[in-house]
Amino acid sequence: IKETISAHHKTKHHKNRSMSSITVQPPKCLQKTFVAPRRHMFGPGPSNVPPRILAAGAEPIIGHMHPEMLEIMSDIKSGIQYAFQTQNNMTIAVSGTGHTAMECAIFNAVEPGEGVLTAVNGIWGERAAEMAERIGARVNSIVTTAGGYFTSEEIDRALAKHKPVLFFLTHGESSTGVVHPLDGIGDICHKHNCLFLVDCVASMGGAPLHMDKQGIDILYSGSQKVLNAPPGTAPISFSERACQKVFNRKTKPVSFFLDMTWLANYWGCDGKPARIYHHTAPVSAFYSLRESLAILAEQGLENSWRRHKEVAEYFHEGLENMGLKLLPTVTTIVAPPGYDWKEITSYIMKNHNLEISGGLGPSVGQVLRVGLMGGNSSKASVDMVLEALRDALRYCHKSKV
Ligand SMILES: Cc1ncc(COP(=O)(O)O)c(C=O)c1O
Repeated sequence: IKETISAHHKTKHHKNRSMSSITVQPPKCLQKTFVAPRRHMFGPGPSNVPPRILAAGAEPIIGHMHPEMLEIMSDIKSGIQYAFQTQNNMTIAVSGTGHTAMECAIFNAVEPGEGVLTAVNGIWGERAAEMAERIGARVNSIVTTAGGYFTSEEIDRALAKHKPVLFFLTHGESSTGVVHPLDGIGDICHKHNCLFLVDCVASMGGAPLHMDKQGIDILYSGSQKVLNAPPGTAPISFSERACQKVFNRKTKPVSFFLDMTWLANYWGCDGKPARIYHHTAPVSAFYSLRESLAILAEQGLENSWRRHKEVAEYFHEGLENMGLKLLPTVTTIVAPPGYDWKEITSYIMKNHNLEISGGLGPSVGQVLRVGLMGGNSSKASVDMVLEALRDALRYCHKSKV
């Protein structure tokens, strides 16, 4: 050994390195302790996670197939059924963000060559169209201006023309702020033998939504908005009609990870006695999701809808008093002319430790977006945002003159 070491000493390499097989050294940056900044998360998501949900996520890890975990998953299922107002047995949380649930819905409901119709009034309809195209669907879209709605007649006509198997609509269009009416659209879809898929990532818990009564066949959401849980889990539910289509496919879905046949078993929705390992569920994220659904159940869905509406009205009043113009929604403010929206959001982040955001997709450069979701939906938060905006308009204006 001595000989080997002294031989190494003679090499041009540094003494310590010569004894190690690694070529990449431990990064210096990881030697620093990380502390997340404390911020008011008043953009369109993620929202602040209250201590009770953070604490749930910090509980010790158990196995993803342990009976206690299966019980937590069953609690999550009941919580989602409540939040979605559905009796659907096929109700689960996907391990992933809102996009994962979006792909889960489209990948399972559509086979290559089948038709999909998407309603585009912001970016989410465009993304749904892209996902469907990627799996070889025939995709058509109905398009309206950002901030616009679709009438039942327009939807009826487009369904008659394109004969899709799936129609996609966003309930809360977070890029423009529109809450789209849903009543009656399910019936129109079913008349055309088409499934009705709705995105409620930005609206669930914040605006009235009744999956069963409104005839929605597939509904999905996300954890990081009104639920105030960390990003990374996404509720999704399939109606009986959707299950008929999903479980009678000729081809397997393109994604193994998102295959509802596997997920239905893992979540105990397929009636089979044995639960088979599919993937290692994000255990801590499920703890947090369960806690967030427990808080929603304790507070009451209708109370949550009412609070979000009242706080939005209070916010609107304050914004109008400041002379700011609103799009026809709760959270989207027309960017005040003469100001650079980026300067406003940066100023507010720097001086108020508070996140609001600019536009997305078609609304880039035109709007400021404020999300007051879950625990953030309070008059105190509104006052904080109004104060920050008032301050920013004063400061940013001065710097321009
Ligand atoms: C309406 C809507 N749909 C889908 C998504 C995608 O969710 P995620 O970012 O969690 O993938 C978002 C996220 O902001 C959203 O607002």
